[in-house]
Amino acid sequence: MVNENRVEIRNLTVRYGKTISLHDVSLDIPRNKIFAIIGPANSGKTTLLKSINRTLELESGSSVQGNITIDGREIHEIWNVYELRRRIGMVFPLPVGLPLSVYDNVAYAPRMAGERRRKVLDEIVERCLRQAALWDEVKDRLKNLGTMLSGGQQQRLTIARALSHSPEILCLDEFSIAIDPVTTMRIEDVLVQLKEEMTIILVTNLVQQARRLGDMTCFINKGRVVQVDTTEVMFSDNPGNQLTYDYVRGVFG
Ligand SMILES: Nc1ncnc2c1ncn2[C@@H]1O[C@H](COP(=O)(O)OP(=O)(O)OP(=O)(O)O)[C@@H](O)[C@H]1O
Ligand SMILES: [Mg+2]
Repeated sequence: MVNENRVEIRNLTVRYGKTISLHDVSLDIPRNKIFAIIGPANSGKTTLLKSINRTLELESGSSVQGNITIDGREIHEIWNVYELRRRIGMVFPLPVGLPLSVYDNVAYAPRMAGERRRKVLDEIVERCLRQAALWDEVKDRLKNLGTMLSGGQQQRLTIARALSHSPEILCLDEFSIAIDPVTTMRIEDVLVQLKEEMTIILVTNLVQQARRLGDMTCFINKGRVVQVDTTEVMFSDNPGNQLTYDYVRGVFG
């Protein structure tokens, strides 16, 4: 039987030196859904994503306790770290463009994986740029440097690059911080389509974005999970938790 949850986090505690950034976090992240994570600054949202793709190990002084499993298998055992990061796409708040052409930015990962056939690469580049709602704007200048695009276009290029690995889990960390609302909406539409193919973990400072996109919403505050429930419940008049109620209504945060 296929486990309904794609990712299960159990008793995750993360420290940076003496600072505890996540306290005993346990979460079930269902497959083929958008799992939204909201919470004020410094609440541990990015730390949670970094724990899942094991980039936390790159931060000096960090220590991790607890378990994370994907399809029931512990992340340290299931794949080596490179394979893990290939299968978990990560999009950071600000675009991290490679100093390469638009085409080569997206073809980079498939080439690293050994793909050399031009036709296959062309198809991957077009598919990913379309999925990232960028194709129409760049199809005539695929040879131009990616870093010459506008901020919003570069962010979509980052999304296209994350998709080029064909990830099974896509983590987005405040992806729309540098993008105008119209482009943000286009990408939001794309994410709704993408969940057919992958599990999406969406960290957002915009509670309305969580409301629009999340099937489930998790509210984290000061490193602790305050509440996790269906987005409908979280944004209802009675979510069952005063802190959640106040936060989603902008009373604090
Ligand atoms: N590399 C690090 N070294 C030391 N402390 C860190 C490091 N990264 C994060 N922290 C601390 O861990 C806590 C959680 O940080 P995190 O970046 O996960 O928060 P966040 O919820 O993503 O915040 P934001 O909304 O501002 O992005 C903060 O107190 C932060 O200062
Ligand atoms: Mg963050």
